[in-house]
Amino acid sequence: MHIRAQTVTMASPVDVIVVGAGSRGQTYSNYASLHPERMRVVGVADPRKFAREKLQKQHRVSDNNMFADWHGVVEREKFADAVFICTPDRHHKDPAVALAKKGYHVLLEKPMAVTAEDCTEIVKTCIQNGVMLSVCHVLRYDPLIRKIKVLLDSGVIGDVAHIQHFEPVGFFHFAHSFVRGNWRNEAESSFSLLAKSCHDIDLIHHWAGERSCLKVSSFGSLSHFRKENQPTGAADRCLDCPVEKNCPYSARKIYLDRVKQGCVGWPVSVICSNSIPDIESVTEALKSGPYGRCVYQCDNDVCTNQVVNMEFEGGLTAAFSMVAFTEKLCDRKTTIYGSKGELSYDGCEIRVFDFLSGITKHRAAARAPEAFGVSGHGGADYHLVDAFISAVGSGDPSLILSGPEETLLSHKLVFQAERARLEGKVVFCDT
Ligand SMILES: NC(=O)c1ccc[n+]([C@@H]2O[C@H](COP(=O)([O-])OP(=O)(O)OC[C@H]3O[C@@H](n4cnc5c(N)ncnc54)[C@H](O)[C@@H]3O)[C@@H](O)[C@H]2O)c1
Repeated sequence: MHIRAQTVTMASPVDVIVVGAGSRGQTYSNYASLHPERMRVVGVADPRKFAREKLQKQHRVSDNNMFADWHGVVEREKFADAVFICTPDRHHKDPAVALAKKGYHVLLEKPMAVTAEDCTEIVKTCIQNGVMLSVCHVLRYDPLIRKIKVLLDSGVIGDVAHIQHFEPVGFFHFAHSFVRGNWRNEAESSFSLLAKSCHDIDLIHHWAGERSCLKVSSFGSLSHFRKENQPTGAADRCLDCPVEKNCPYSARKIYLDRVKQGCVGWPVSVICSNSIPDIESVTEALKSGPYGRCVYQCDNDVCTNQVVNMEFEGGLTAAFSMVAFTEKLCDRKTTIYGSKGELSYDGCEIRVFDFLSGITKHRAAARAPEAFGVSGHGGADYHLVDAFISAVGSGDPSLILSGPEETLLSHKLVFQAERARLEGKVVFCDT
């Protein structure tokens, strides 16, 4: 399928430096390969030589513009229009602030930062330095999710009274990312509501429109993936485990069986940090690396399930749930109830039930080129980069749907929800 990039006229391609050449940095950089007339990757910063050189080769980046750390970019005179900051969660704020001060427009991975104060500092710095900021709340760019907002604003279900939104993380996805992987431990990354669901709270905030959130409560905990639940006789590594066959979280099943079937995409693709994934490198990663650990013997502490209840101005209520133990992998389910009808969304289709006239269905016309990336969030990753490049290329920040002020408000809501959970109380939001 041929996808047209935004029809914004650009005199020359936007030059981008990729800071953090891991999974996300690589995905976003694919835009330059698809649309070389609109974007060029002209610099890469990453301490991992393997990841850095992979991008260098793909985009023919000159040796001068290769850095083992983002500080190297800051020390040089500005030599591009924009930066993609795709470093781990706790390494967002410092490069974002330093590079915005150098005058680079910033595409910043979510979460913006791990404290409300740091998020505020990023936004202030970008505004003060006159640079554009786009936070990678990719769902905002999903054509169907955009359609939900258009439908709500057109009054198709009347006055919106309640929003119910559910995020199924997926049982093996949760084990991969939040038990064994990079987002397992709050002190090393962030709490799971921020890491996984700041997208979702952002969507609820967006759908609520002009109405501010007044109150929030939240409950949740880490269930199941605890040492006391390790089955009798289990080993601390799946490759040595005599009871692994009965375990749905077995690393042998999640990674080794997949690579044996020729599937080398995510999550297999991210467990061999310095080599191409094949049977040999995956076996080695499971023998010695974090992804071969028994899920009941990890240093994980983030919540597996969490609910957030919100009350907005005008009596609008919203209920959000995030659950680890699901068949579906991140395919959100949403139902929005209004005075004239009900709107539901399942990741593929929007269904509107009008109380007078019955059902209307909406499907998305344009997804994204398959070549763009492995996951792509149903094409939303592509549209996110497309909007940012169009904004920078044309000097029009209104093309960015996840800009500074609104994103800061929805991030603050996430921090307030987590405070409500930790303190076991209703938090009255500062409007
Ligand atoms: N928008 C989304 O839907 C979405 C999805 C997944 C991850 N994320 C977020 O994207 C970010 C990156 O995630 P990922 O999955 O690509 O992780 P990753 O580990 O694959 O990539 C991160 C890269 O940053 C590099 N890095 C670390 N320190 C650095 C430094 N000082 N300078 C330059 N590079 C440095 C690492 O070596 C690594 O290659 C995280 O914040 C994550 O939470 C967002």
